[in-house]
Amino acid sequence: MLKKEEGLVPKHVAFIMDGNGRWAKKRLQPREQGHRAGAKKFKEIVKHCAEIGVECVTVYAFSTENWKRPKREVDAIMQLFREYIREAVQDFEKNDIRVLFIGNRSVFDDETKKEMKKVEDLTADRHKTLCIAINYGGRAEIVDAVNQMIANGKTFVTEEDVTREIYSGAVPPPDMIIRTGGEIRLSNFLLWQSAYAELFFTETLWPDLQNEEVDSMIETYYQRNRRYGGV
Ligand code: FPP
Repeated sequence: MLKKEEGLVPKHVAFIMDGNGRWAKKRLQPREQGHRAGAKKFKEIVKHCAEIGVECVTVYAFSTENWKRPKREVDAIMQLFREYIREAVQDFEKNDIRVLFIGNRSVFDDETKKEMKKVEDLTADRHKTLCIAINYGGRAEIVDAVNQMIANGKTFVTEEDVTREIYSGAVPPPDMIIRTGGEIRLSNFLLWQSAYAELFFTETLWPDLQNEEVDSMIETYYQRNRRYGGV
């Protein structure tokens, strides 16, 4: 396991959890089983990150584009999400992780919205953060932020204003974005926040991801020379 040596561990790691469907297909199982395995892996990886000293983790659980999937699959992911909300407060207590949801909540029923708010409130005093991106789109996030600022009467905005207004305004931008499943793109994830993130892509399917591979990517991250556009 990585050492919690100061400076070694990034503060914020974001994950695009891709490859659940292929994982299930390889096992001749329905795609929903892949998402179930993905949800289990998600809990493991979030806890591992907390244990090695990562302060914030963001996961891409459902994008604004994912509604185009067959209803059966969408229902299965939403079911996993609702199951998860119910256990989140207790599940992450030991790891001192608070939970925030980023994305457009207007699509959820009142009961789900209430549960989401309850989880956020009950975990608010914890010291590490998990952001779950659900019904999330990076472009929509920026457009929503701009519209909110217009509604607030602004006629001129700065980068700081946008940073404050986006859904994840409360957390620092990700140092690393890790995408599993072999695709090499961001798929509308954290567009504003990813400006200086180090990007990592692995062929490993999300349910197969091991803590050791995360550690190895973090070691590579540490070796990369982060210049933020300077020399
Ligand atoms: C991408 O794999 C994965 C998703 C669209 C859903 C991710 C959801 C979970 C891991 C479970 C629910 C989350 C929580 C927080 C409980 P894919 O289906 O696109 O895989 P493929 O590219 O192999 O088809």
